Amino acid sequence: MHVTTCSADDPAFLAGGFSAWHAALEAGRHHDLPSAAPWPAAQARAELAHPVSWEHGAALSAVGSGAVVGAARADLPQRDNRDVVFVDLAVPGPHRRRGTGTALLRAVCDLAEAEGRPRLLTEVAVPLGADVARWPGTAFAARSGFSLGVADVRRELPLPPDAGLLAGLRAGAAPLAAGYRWGVVRGTPSRRDAAAMAELSSRMLSEAPQDDLVLQPEDVDAGRVLEEHGRSQALRRTTWVALARALDGTTAGYSVLVRSEHEPGVLHQWDTLVLPEHRGHRLGLLLKVDCLARALADGEAEGWAGDLRAVRTYNAASNAPMIAVNEAMGFRPVELLHEMQAEVADVRAALAGRAAARG
Ligand SMILES: CC(C)(COP(=O)(O)OP(=O)(O)OC[C@H]1O[C@@H](n2cnc3c(N)ncnc32)[C@H](O)[C@@H]1OP(=O)(O)O)[C@@H](O)C(=O)NCCC(=O)NCCS
Repeated sequence: MHVTTCSADDPAFLAGGFSAWHAALEAGRHHDLPSAAPWPAAQARAELAHPVSWEHGAALSAVGSGAVVGAARADLPQRDNRDVVFVDLAVPGPHRRRGTGTALLRAVCDLAEAEGRPRLLTEVAVPLGADVARWPGTAFAARSGFSLGVADVRRELPLPPDAGLLAGLRAGAAPLAAGYRWGVVRGTPSRRDAAAMAELSSRMLSEAPQDDLVLQPEDVDAGRVLEEHGRSQALRRTTWVALARALDGTTAGYSVLVRSEHEPGVLHQWDTLVLPEHRGHRLGLLLKVDCLARALADGEAEGWAGDLRAVRTYNAASNAPMIAVNEAMGFRPVELLHEMQAEVADVRAALAGRAAARG
C-alpha cells in the first residue's frame, strides 16, 4: 500500500481520483457511525473546485491492490494558524487495523514538515455515551499522540419547529433587547455589514469556549467575508445572517444559518456570537430565532421548506449559555465531536513507538 498526495483543487484530481477518494472518506466516516454528518459528493467537489484564498487543501489517498483503501484531507490555513494542519482521515471498515490510518497520518506528518507546520488538529465524531478509550477514532488518535482540545456536542432541532414555542421565547426576550436593532441579511452583505460580520467572525474563537484547544483567532476582514459569499453560487449555498447593532451603530452580535442545495434536509447553524459588552439582553436567542424564521419563510415561499428535517449545530460541551439557548429552542444532542491536537514531533514518536512495539 502507498499514499498519494495532491492539491485538493487539482483539476486532474477532481476529474479523476476524486470519486474514489471521496467514497473512501465517506465510507470510513460512516462505517460505524451512520449518523455522522455527510459530505455529499457534489458539495465536496464544488468546495474543492472553488477554494478560498485563505486555505490550501491537500487530498491524500491510500492505495492498495489498485483500490483506494483510505483517504485523508489536509487543510492548511494561510492567513492565521499557519503553524497548523487540519486533518480529516478515515478508513472504510473492511480495510481497518492494517496500518492504513497510520500510513495516511505519516503522510500528513510529511506534508506538515514540508510546510514547516509543527501542529496537527483533527475532529473525531463519537456517538453519545461511547467509551472514548475504545472508540476507533479517539483510540487511534490517542495512540497516535493526540490529546483532547475541546469536546463539542452536535445538536439538532427537528423541523418544522414548534412555532408557538419559538414565538413565546421571542415575545419573552424582545423587551430585554430594546437598546438594539437587528435584521436578517440574505446572501451577499453590504460592505458595512460585511465589516461588522468580519469583526464578529474574527472574535469567534477568542470569545467562545475552546477549553484546551490551541487555536489563534481567525484573521477575517470584509474582503474575506465577501469572498466567502462570492463562492455561494458555485457551492449552491444560501446564507442568512442575523446582525445586531446597538442604537449608536456599534456591532453587537450575529447568527449565521446556511443551506446547501446538495443537502436539502439540513440547515446548518454556524456562528452565533454576542460580544461581551452586549450580553444579557437575550440577543443570542433573538438572533437565532429570527434567522431561522426568515430562512423557513424563504423556504416556504421558494418551495423547499418541506425538504427540511433539522437544523444542525455544534457547541463546546462547556458553553453553557449557548447550550441553554439551543435547548430552549428544542435542539437535542445527537453526537459528540472531539477536537484533538498534537505536535507533529509527538505523532512521529508515537508512530515510531508503535512500530517498535510490533517489532
Ligand atoms: C480511526 C481510523 C482512521 C483508524 O484506521 P486504521 O486503518 O484502522 O488504523 P491503523 O490500522 O493504522 O491503527 C493504528 C492503531 O490505532 C489504534 N486503533 C485503531 N483502531 C482502533 C480501535 N477500533 N480500537 C482501539 N484501538 C484502535 C491501535 O493502536 C492501532 O494499532 P494496532 O492495530 O496495531 O493495535 C478508522 O477507524 C476510521 O476511519 N474511523 C472513522 C473516522 C475517524 O474517526 N477518523 C479520525 C481519525 S484521527
